[in-house]
Amino acid sequence: MGPIRGINIGGVFLIEPFIRPSLFDQFNTSTVAELPVDEWTFSATLGKEEAKRQLEDHWDTFVTREHLEAMAEYGINWIRIPIGYWAFNLTAEEPFVDGQIPYVERLLGWAQEIGLKVELDLHGAPGSQNGYDNSGHRTSPQWLYTRINVDRTLDALRQMTELAIEWSDVVYGIQILNEPSRWKWPVSQILEFYNEAYDLMRSMTNDVYFMVHDTFLGPNDWGTLVSANWTDALMDTHIYQMFDNYIITLNETAHIDMVATMAENVTRFDKTSIGVVVGEFSAATHDCTRYINGFGRGSRWDGTLEGVDHPLCPLSNCSCTGDYGGNYTQFSSSYRGFLQRYVDAQLSIYDKELAGWFYWNFRTEGAPEWDYLLGVEQGWFPKFPRTAVPMIADKGESDEPDESVVDRVSRAPPAARGSCGTALALAVAALAAALTT
Ligand SMILES: *[C@@H]1O[C@H](CO)[C@@H](O)[C@H](O)[C@H]1NC(C)=O
Ligand SMILES: *[C@@H]1O[C@H](CO)[C@@H](O)[C@H](O)[C@H]1NC(C)=O
Ligand SMILES: *[C@@H]1O[C@H](CO)[C@@H](O)[C@H](O)[C@H]1NC(C)=O
Ligand SMILES: *[C@@H]1O[C@H](CO)[C@@H](O)[C@H](O)[C@H]1NC(C)=O
Ligand SMILES: *[C@@H]1O[C@H](CO)[C@@H](O)[C@H](O)[C@H]1NC(C)=O
Ligand SMILES: *[C@@H]1O[C@H](CO)[C@@H](O)[C@H](O)[C@H]1NC(C)=O
Ligand SMILES: *[C@@H]1O[C@H](CO)[C@@H](O)[C@H](O)[C@H]1NC(C)=O
Repeated sequence: MGPIRGINIGGVFLIEPFIRPSLFDQFNTSTVAELPVDEWTFSATLGKEEAKRQLEDHWDTFVTREHLEAMAEYGINWIRIPIGYWAFNLTAEEPFVDGQIPYVERLLGWAQEIGLKVELDLHGAPGSQNGYDNSGHRTSPQWLYTRINVDRTLDALRQMTELAIEWSDVVYGIQILNEPSRWKWPVSQILEFYNEAYDLMRSMTNDVYFMVHDTFLGPNDWGTLVSANWTDALMDTHIYQMFDNYIITLNETAHIDMVATMAENVTRFDKTSIGVVVGEFSAATHDCTRYINGFGRGSRWDGTLEGVDHPLCPLSNCSCTGDYGGNYTQFSSSYRGFLQRYVDAQLSIYDKELAGWFYWNFRTEGAPEWDYLLGVEQGWFPKFPRTAVPMIADKGESDEPDESVVDRVSRAPPAARGSCGTALALAVAALAAALTT
């Protein structure tokens, strides 16, 4: 099996203001404080009936079969589907609405027919595991404070595992939780939850990857987040270069150099017990994108983010316009060239030296550096040879049922890897040639 070349189907079953701002631009209240900022307040403001009507329309239309077909044609072989717990385990007191699963299964059906593998990703846990809007609820995180939250998280995972078993030729991995906060809970407590989830999942099936997030710990400390008895496990790490007051001030050359620096210890990490995927990355090196720091929040780049007292960017004029204005028709050719080199630099490591990658996100409304389909169309995201896409039949047909999937990842066919490396090398060479002429 070659590297995972994946795309996140984010902002569908768990809405995020920056991915689909139009859902959040309909509200008109007397005070800004009352405006919805996440799916929780979106549903609370509209009420369950209207929220369900609007969300059903969104689930039905924001991701289509054509999107998946295009991805497969461009050489993508996996998708990662973020889902909130409330699709599985909702109480009447919570404002969220459910009803997502038929749409998730429609997506699984398309993936099955098209030949894409799926990672189901629990992206929001009861009480919120990190307090970000991308957990469904921008709030002070409460997740591990009560046993009932943990039980409900496990109940959602049990139902996700049932889906995986039912769709065993499509669902190859379950990420048990996205970005739980190590700033809120000790890593040992998060590992305890990981182990409970592992025991539950493995009591149901051995046939899916058990995927965990690194809780934002550096690779040198990942050993404290892994148990020796896990099999077919993958560590998910997210690598971004714009949510940091120092990194955002780097110039283009320094951002590209930073790709190697940030991945250095990841590639050095001993992957014998657990493989590594970069489950999220993007082409962005600024935070001008509307709502990228949360609904109603400003940007480090132009100094409008709360807590930042001056603009933070590598230029003398830190303006969220032009190349940084979110309208790709206004991008300069030099910025387009940078996006391509920055994406290639990331892929040259994640694709060749790790178990693979998932770009965030498959599409957006007006966030070009986060939009895979736009990136391919506009030429700053490469296509991969279709021949490199592993076929569905490559799983479960082995004569050696005990062989670890992780072993297979680390022993990827040299030809498949070589051809991709060559394609990238050629793309990089072609770009370098184009830029020097
Ligand atoms: C919002 O509501 C106020 C008061 O009802 C009204 O004057 C204003 O035009 C509305 N704005 C929008 C954008 O609908
Ligand atoms: C949610 O999970 C809890 C804990 O396992 C369980 O008691 C409850 O019945 C579940 N609710 C739903 C709607 O499945
Ligand atoms: C694996 O090890 C962890 C930590 O030692 C333990 O909590 C868990 O129950 C074990 N699981 C299995 C299936 O042995
Ligand atoms: C980019 O920044 C580095 C140091 O951070 C500096 O050495 C280099 O000259 C800068 N390049 C440009 C083109 O400004
Ligand atoms: C990588 O690991 C070394 C120690 O092994 C450490 O000094 C360095 O800060 C780490 N780099 C990053 C980017 O975390
Ligand atoms: C600042 O830069 C933007 C483009 O990045 C440009 O549109 C704007 O006119 C510049 N402003 C000044 C005062 O130079
Ligand atoms: C993007 O820029 C183009 C060209 O300047 C303009 O025609 C178009 O309306 C802009 N799109 C948006 C969404 O602002």
